[in-house]
Amino acid sequence: MRLDDRSAGPRPGFPRMIVFDNVTVAYSQERPALSGVNLTITDGAFTYIVGATGAGKSTLLRLVYCDLAPTQGAVIVDGVRLDGRRGCDVPALRRRMGVVFQDIGLLPDRNVYENVAFALRVIGAGHRKIRRNVPDALELVGMVHRPDAYPRQLSGGEQQRVAIARALVNNPPLLLADEPTGNLDPDTSMGIAEVLDRINQAGTTVVVATHDQPMVDAMQRRVIELSRGRLVRDEERGGYGASISDEA
Ligand SMILES: Nc1ncnc2c1ncn2[C@@H]1O[C@H](COP(=O)(O)OP(=O)(O)O)[C@@H](O)[C@H]1O
Ligand SMILES: [Mg+2]
Repeated sequence: MRLDDRSAGPRPGFPRMIVFDNVTVAYSQERPALSGVNLTITDGAFTYIVGATGAGKSTLLRLVYCDLAPTQGAVIVDGVRLDGRRGCDVPALRRRMGVVFQDIGLLPDRNVYENVAFALRVIGAGHRKIRRNVPDALELVGMVHRPDAYPRQLSGGEQQRVAIARALVNNPPLLLADEPTGNLDPDTSMGIAEVLDRINQAGTTVVVATHDQPMVDAMQRRVIELSRGRLVRDEERGGYGASISDEA
């Protein structure tokens, strides 16, 4: 499926992209990292996951990208119940989602084009698909004019755009981002927020874990707030939340 083939909004038959049914994650005997979390994210939606450091944001995303299995409860992504085995093989994951992180992780010895193409080469995509999809993905993130640049020649924001293109180049229906603006200044962060928004407008379901207050406040999207592993707020159009404090 090409990026421009996907219209925004729910796809018939798969209205629910992510379902958490009473999910608990306990890494140890201490307070669980997530406790009894219930949520549904509809296909085509844009959702911010907010909360103080340690609230459980990364744990929530790790469940979705199968880096972790729930201790209790069920996680269902794109119709597949993830239990640490099913739906967690690498090819299935790569078809279903792209993931970006605070640590951008581009290959330093490859240029922009090759960094993005690499994500297709590792799944055995042919030359034709690479020649078609890489420019599309770079266009979407506003980097189509720098295919020959190496990561060290780019700003942090430009590098993150390339990482987003790499995550999307196989046209997955879902994009996850864990603190994508964590290392960026406020202006650059807003540019990344706009790129994520544009990707969502093109039909991709986007879930962003962040404690970037200005970004969340500016975008006024769905906000799910975690506090000490519990879901404490779910607003259809919300801001970051006045009560969140990393000192608490
Ligand atoms: N691999 C791990 N082993 C043990 N505890 C962990 C691990 N990862 C996270 N935690 C704990 O789980 C809680 C939630 O962490 P995390 O999901 O990383 O929160 P956030 O991303 O919101 O900062 C924290 O108390 C953290 O210390
Ligand atoms: Mg985190």
